[in-house]
Amino acid sequence: MNYLIAANWKMNGSKEFIESYLSAINIEDNPDVKMLICPPDCYLNDINSNAPTIISRGAQNLSTSSEGAYTGEVSSEMLIDHSVEYVIVGHSERREYHNETNDLVAIKFKRSIEANIKPILCVGESLEQRQRGETFDHIRDQIESVIKKDMINKSDRYVIAYEPIWAIGTGETATPDMANEVHVFINQTLYDNGLTQDNNVIIIYGGSVNSNNASDLFKMSHINGALIGGASLDAYEFTKIYNVAEEINNE
Ligand code: 13P
Repeated sequence: MNYLIAANWKMNGSKEFIESYLSAINIEDNPDVKMLICPPDCYLNDINSNAPTIISRGAQNLSTSSEGAYTGEVSSEMLIDHSVEYVIVGHSERREYHNETNDLVAIKFKRSIEANIKPILCVGESLEQRQRGETFDHIRDQIESVIKKDMINKSDRYVIAYEPIWAIGTGETATPDMANEVHVFINQTLYDNGLTQDNNVIIIYGGSVNSNNASDLFKMSHINGALIGGASLDAYEFTKIYNVAEEINNE
């Protein structure tokens, strides 16, 4: 895989929405460019019944436990039961609204690796951190405290999403150079920590991606796709972004 084009629907969608959304998506199987949809868990069955299998299924969160008295939680085993291949961990909205710390995210990351679900680890700095020049230190810390060497033997078992918090849902994207600089740094950090031998980790960008800015982002050396919120709720727009990745992959 060269590009991962992932939809994070967040808390959006309905049965009706899914029906019309999926009928508008028309893509061919392409091993180099993968499409992923992460709906709210309660709609995974609707995706499973109606989406072609070339679209991967993902979840937006998982529990740190495997079963028991944890009201409202969903375990990795339950996600596997719903054909989930990827799970987002450590999204900034969960860090902010659900007090998820690096330690908690690390447990979720580990559970997901153990369950054979590929975690998409979200990292990214706030505007204040960027202004104070702390971007790289913050991201290094988010990576080093979550991904442990003994969890990983192959880098194709996880994905990193660089999502600068100031670019999420704001319409303000990092410039391609700005994003790529961080992606290069993430790649180097993984390498320095022995978390990739082959420089093969997929590093995707998230934060106000749309069909107009996707091309310049995907052309950058270390940007392997996108984690898309708002623009992924429009099936045509999401497919356009996917098609941009296909075009660049073919160049
Ligand atoms: P937007 O694309 O709406 O900025 O959201 C990005 C995001 O948070 C994806 O996880």
